[in-house]
Amino acid sequence: MPKTLALYLHEMETVHHVDPRLTGLINHLAETCKEISFKVSQGALAGVLGSAGSENVQGETQKKLDIISNEIMCRACTESGFVSAVASEEMDHALQVPENCEVGPYLVLFDPLDGSSNIDINVSIGTIFSVLPAGEPHRGVEDAEFLQSGRHQLAAGYVIYGPQTQLVMTLGFGVMVFTLDLSTGNFYQTAENVTISESTKEFAINCSNMRHWEAPVQRYIMELLAGTTGVRGKDFNMRWVAAMVAEVHRILSRGGIFMYPRDNRDPNKPGKLRLMYEANPMSWLIEQAHGRATNGYQNILDIEPTALHQRVAVFLGAKEEVDLVTSYHG
Ligand code: AHG
Ligand code: MN
Ligand code: MN
Repeated sequence: MPKTLALYLHEMETVHHVDPRLTGLINHLAETCKEISFKVSQGALAGVLGSAGSENVQGETQKKLDIISNEIMCRACTESGFVSAVASEEMDHALQVPENCEVGPYLVLFDPLDGSSNIDINVSIGTIFSVLPAGEPHRGVEDAEFLQSGRHQLAAGYVIYGPQTQLVMTLGFGVMVFTLDLSTGNFYQTAENVTISESTKEFAINCSNMRHWEAPVQRYIMELLAGTTGVRGKDFNMRWVAAMVAEVHRILSRGGIFMYPRDNRDPNKPGKLRLMYEANPMSWLIEQAHGRATNGYQNILDIEPTALHQRVAVFLGAKEEVDLVTSYHG
């Protein structure tokens, strides 16, 4: 039988001296996502499909499962004893630990349900998490304490709810994949030290936005579409799942490049994806797997955040392709 998540985390403590409170937190997150996975699998039977009729801080309509997943993640994290506060894509501000619960040395940020538009059509979705240091465990955490660049992450990952439920994560010692065994309820390691090939013939972008993109992205995509008849001299294939979790999972599994560029529709929205809940954790996973992640100008992990909900352009995956599209930005 493959290694359990519990055994892997224990090895991280003994071999790499990872703080047992951090491995405890990861274990806790995995247990929490099992609960979300179960709700997702029940779908209409549990009454979790459809819109909640409310909007989040980003002005996006919330699905019932966005709210349910957020509540499950918030409760689990703030009652774990491992965190000083949490921040979520679905909440305006940081959430504090209740008075009757212990505080711990970590800040957790999450996108509780990524790929919301896939929920009701039974296509892959996921939960993304990022762990930052909080310093000494404390209460009354300000939003500003979360504004640390992605380089400060201590753990990052996602749980994908697809044909299989899988936890993919890094503690800075490679990217590991664990698959949930429904017969035992345990996560078992099914891939280790995942790496991404430097070159690829597969790309992912929402082409319906093409007319709004900036010139460097238009140029890059036109060259990919030209295939063997163009300057690239090879044909490319395209995929778009509309869930970043699923796109990153495909890239970690078989390579590729994923893009969500900024466009010229709204100058206040530099891209759609959120730096703190989506781009940073995914970029660290990609870098740990020897890929690249930029916003077209700099490595995403080097961006100094200025707001909890800030958005960012994202180009991530195969090094050759990310380097090329980044070079086009000049
Ligand atoms: P969320 O469901 O958390 O709002 O995130 C959805 C994001 C991302 O996962 C995906 O890559 C992208 O939005 C899809 O956008 P389009 O609907 O524009 O294709
Ligand atoms: Mn998302
Ligand atoms: Mn979401």
